[in-house]
Amino acid sequence: MFSKQTVRDIDLKGKTVLLRADYNVPLEDGKITDDYRIKQSLPTLEYLLDQSAKVIICSHLGRPDGPNDSANSLFPVAKRLQQLLDRRVAFAPDCVGETAKKAVAGLKKGEVLLLENLRFHPEEKANDAGFTKELASLAEIFVQDGFGVVHRADASTDAITKHLPAVAGLLLEKEVRAITGVMEKPQRPLMAIVGGAKVSDKIEILERFIEIADFVAIGGALANPFLVAQDINVGDSLYDKADLPIAKKIMRLAEVEAKKRPFVFFVPHDGVVAEKIDKTASTRIVEWKSHMISDVEHYPHRVPAKASTIRAAEMILDIGPFSAAFIAGAVQQAKTVIWNGAMGVTETASLHGPVGPTSHGTQTVVEALLGDFGHKPFTLVGGGDTVGYVESKQLAPYFGHVSTGGGASLELMAGHKLPGIEALRDKK
Ligand code: 3PG
Repeated sequence: MFSKQTVRDIDLKGKTVLLRADYNVPLEDGKITDDYRIKQSLPTLEYLLDQSAKVIICSHLGRPDGPNDSANSLFPVAKRLQQLLDRRVAFAPDCVGETAKKAVAGLKKGEVLLLENLRFHPEEKANDAGFTKELASLAEIFVQDGFGVVHRADASTDAITKHLPAVAGLLLEKEVRAITGVMEKPQRPLMAIVGGAKVSDKIEILERFIEIADFVAIGGALANPFLVAQDINVGDSLYDKADLPIAKKIMRLAEVEAKKRPFVFFVPHDGVVAEKIDKTASTRIVEWKSHMISDVEHYPHRVPAKASTIRAAEMILDIGPFSAAFIAGAVQQAKTVIWNGAMGVTETASLHGPVGPTSHGTQTVVEALLGDFGHKPFTLVGGGDTVGYVESKQLAPYFGHVSTGGGASLELMAGHKLPGIEALRDKK
């Protein structure tokens, strides 16, 4: 299941280790708004410190234009890491060159140094040999623990492994085991709930889910092209015309699959609509006739009597209560649920309660996943925004596995080989 050497397979006692983390965390006015990725990096760090290693951490943050992009400095991460580790974390304002060398020279066994953003050097994204050599010269061993970035072939994920013995950290190992375990040997019934903004980002995982899952439900703006493709009026809802053929193809695949075995592909049949995305906007619930609910025998449902009445200026901003209840009902029958992407716009606060006006669909799904309706399946949560939502509600500990990866978790679920993992040493 995980065929690469890890920190446990190599002698790290007193060694100088270059640890690649993914500290690409959201910041607002220099403040970290979600530190999940930093927290998840702690077990590997603690393991390395227990081995009295000198730990040099490198990471990227955002997609900076050049070295002077202070909004993308990792300095706030060094401060947060220091609090979480409860020990000093030194910070070097450059990841290579004299500044970095000097900072490393001052590092003692059992101490931690965070290097400034790798992407301040365009050579990082270019997988550049000279830059990589300089980075590698700082350490004796390379540990890859930045799961969120292993789908990129950058200097610090790919080329670096040609210069130093390269093994996996504990987070990387945990992520790969959890995700591939569910994709390859799930406890069935397996359900996938896929939301978010754009279907084009998720074609491959939807295709894979149609192959392996027993039930696939979609929601969020991602569902809009599936509605338009069925001639359902979506008013002013967000969708890209280029996504229509994709939606049609996916529905065709789903229909073929449903003829072969008990399989459900669920497209929402009601939604919460409003004319603007704002907490003061008035919302209402609209139903429409989506024919994409197969296998009615196993999952009885309510087909709305009326066709869509969405007005031209209205947008679908959440799945409606019937669709949310239908999905929550299906969760009751699942042993494993993979969830990626919100069911609606979850950023809008409520005027009079804890749940925003277009967050109820996502909230109901979360309640179902966490067992509030009686049955609690094993849950795998992936994707940056989904994790952000879960973290903002402080619910991460209650899910089976909440991945730190966005694109990386989707690619791994789709069955791709990820360059940053492939490049590591194989287990003997
Ligand atoms: C992520 O947030 O998905 C990772 O940190 C990768 O970032 P990138 O998409 O900018 O390469």
